[in-house]
Amino acid sequence: MRKEKELEKLNKKMLACGKCILRSQCKQVVPGSGSANAEIMFIGEAPGKKEEELGVPFVGAAGKFLDEMLAVIKLKREDVYITNTVKCRPPENRDPTSEEKAACWSWLEGQIKIIQPKLIITLGRHSMNLFLPDKKISEVHGKAIKRNYPGLGEQTFFTLYHPAAALYNGGLRETLIKDFKKIPKVLKLINKK
Ligand code: URA
Repeated sequence: MRKEKELEKLNKKMLACGKCILRSQCKQVVPGSGSANAEIMFIGEAPGKKEEELGVPFVGAAGKFLDEMLAVIKLKREDVYITNTVKCRPPENRDPTSEEKAACWSWLEGQIKIIQPKLIITLGRHSMNLFLPDKKISEVHGKAIKRNYPGLGEQTFFTLYHPAAALYNGGLRETLIKDFKKIPKVLKLINKK
């Protein structure tokens, strides 16, 4: 209960954020959704049109695909926490800038500190770059990497291709599904330690 209340408080504060220009241009902040007690936290790039409309991350086509993959490993979105590197939709769905990601970092950091996930799963290059800027997604996707991250301590990261990128690319789609299926084993290994 403590984590839920803390997360609720943080996510409410986010609604009044004015740290970058995105807030003034978006319709609604999309803080994140799922369980405050989740062992797994998924971090995507930025909310899109549908996410902005509903105030919930990953509810469009990429989100549907994410739900399908979660079902394959017998998880529902209520079992995990899903959020993004920035909480406001960039105009025309452009990539978030480094300044915007930096401005939004304290919110994401706050969410991670409250939830204390065992495993952070980055979806796509933007999200991976926040935590593993020295890595290439083509080389580290589907691999668990342990890092001592400033402010967060020791944390395990698992990198996946973004579901939107894999939607219309058969090869990438297969790779993503294959990587996704490794998640339960990675989590089991973490919980054994
Ligand atoms: N893509 C993202 O990166 N995040 C969302 O919330 C939706 C699509």
